[in-house]
Amino acid sequence: MHIVETLSGIYVLDIFGEMRIATRPKVPVPVYGERVVEGLRIWDPHRSKLAALLVKSRLAGGFGDLVNELNLQPDAKVLYLGAATGTTVSHVSDLVPGGLVYAVEFSPRSMRDLLSLCQARDNIVPLLEDASRPEKYASFLEPVDLVYQDVAQRNQAEIASRNAARYLKPGGSLVLMIKARSVDVTADPKEVCRAEIERLEGFDLLSVSNLRPYHQDHWAVVARKRAKAP
Ligand SMILES: C[S@@+](CC[C@H](N)C(=O)[O-])C[C@H]1O[C@@H](n2cnc3c(N)ncnc32)[C@H](O)[C@@H]1O
Repeated sequence: MHIVETLSGIYVLDIFGEMRIATRPKVPVPVYGERVVEGLRIWDPHRSKLAALLVKSRLAGGFGDLVNELNLQPDAKVLYLGAATGTTVSHVSDLVPGGLVYAVEFSPRSMRDLLSLCQARDNIVPLLEDASRPEKYASFLEPVDLVYQDVAQRNQAEIASRNAARYLKPGGSLVLMIKARSVDVTADPKEVCRAEIERLEGFDLLSVSNLRPYHQDHWAVVARKRAKAP
């Protein structure tokens, strides 16, 4: 294995001729059964939509721009909506060792696994809450640099807009994973995605990427929150 490139804590590796990405945890132990090689946790694009977005951007030549747009400085604050058991949260936590990840998840079962991850790390704040009611976690949050959302709900854009309006700093980034089938199983997935993007309020759109072949009918939308008009 050799390291080809490192950007903002994201390692691009060549492992026997195959490109992989990875993050460096403080303690090099696997979280969800992933490989750990020379202290780096391999980040599987089939398991994580954020990894899929990064791998696709590396293959397409837009990796540097995307990494900049993510706003993931080591001390960044992230609001993560739809944390599940913490697969992607764990890598985001590696990327912001001096920052914080506010991890919102409404399933008590997933939260149980997420809590064990939080016990092993000091930069994840677990919130057993409904992301469609952002006012409910106001007392735990501070303004964040990135809102990352992967909730597979019908009103994905609305949930993202409401959380970003409340918690994202002006100029901060939004990464919205759109699962077309959660919005409408019968409609053309591309059309569903386009309509959801139009519902986003207060953003400049930076990129829209289809996550095939890693995730079917999923798109990753990256946008920047506009500063308020003077
Ligand atoms: C596709 S999974 C997320 C996977 C995770 N982002 C990852 O990459 O490891 C979607 C998660 O969002 C959660 N979810 C869906 N709607 C939610 C809501 N309104 N508030 C909080 N969590 C929600 C689900 O319980 C599920 O765990």
